[in-house]
Amino acid sequence: MNDEIFPLTANYDEDWVRQNSYDGLTLYCLESLCQVLPLEKDMRVLDLGCGWIIGSIFLAKEFNVQVWGVDKERSPTGNYNRVLKADCDNQVFPIRADARDLPFPEAFFDAVVSIDAYSYFGVDERYLPYLCRFIKPGGLIGIVDGCFTRELNSLSDVPAYLKPLYLDDEDPWFPVHSVDWWKNFWEKTGKVKVLTAEILPQNDFIWQMYIEICKDMEREQTLIDALQNDTENLIALFRMVGKKL
Ligand SMILES: C[S@@+](CC[C@H](N)C(=O)[O-])C[C@H]1O[C@@H](n2cnc3c(N)ncnc32)[C@H](O)[C@@H]1O
Repeated sequence: MNDEIFPLTANYDEDWVRQNSYDGLTLYCLESLCQVLPLEKDMRVLDLGCGWIIGSIFLAKEFNVQVWGVDKERSPTGNYNRVLKADCDNQVFPIRADARDLPFPEAFFDAVVSIDAYSYFGVDERYLPYLCRFIKPGGLIGIVDGCFTRELNSLSDVPAYLKPLYLDDEDPWFPVHSVDWWKNFWEKTGKVKVLTAEILPQNDFIWQMYIEICKDMEREQTLIDALQNDTENLIALFRMVGKKL
């Protein structure tokens, strides 16, 4: 079934993906994004909040692009070793940096991608204009992240089953929004035209995989419980692509 839904991801070892990601979903989300974010050979791509850099490796191998994998926590040496093992050290460059303090020239990148990371820094209204400085005119920025299928405007809108996740001390979900909220949030800056903003077509499959992969992980139980009680399908994953104006 993976082969039909995610033909590119199906070529990668599942254990490698699971061992080098938080929840095993990185390549599913990235392949879904690439369906609406066209990449061409030799493009320069920034993978923002790259984690263990497997998404950057995937992009280099599948699309023959050059990728700078930036993460503020992950060791660049550990990531470089993964890149070496994957035999793409001439195409993937690991860097430890904060997304809010990027060490690149202006107008350097053809595209930026960010998988399950953008809402850690991108909900500051000043962030998109900052990030756009590093993208060429006409370049693309694409993200995949968690969302809600309707906007929660106050704490009283939050259903009981969602509260433990929403108010979690370590990784709260109150910076999570609806797709329409995100589209407007980007477009009102005047910096991008949003080309795509939608729930992932593979949303249900990915959550099913998430529950299967993470069922024994203690740190994922709050989200698993919320998903299992989410009869109104409030919790979802979305993809959004903007073109720099
Ligand atoms: C849930 S992980 C996703 C990692 C990777 N994109 C993936 O899908 O496997 C979020 C990543 O964002 C990184 N991150 C969070 N805030 C960041 C920031 N301000 N600058 C750079 N990276 C950040 C974290 O260190 C973490 O590795």
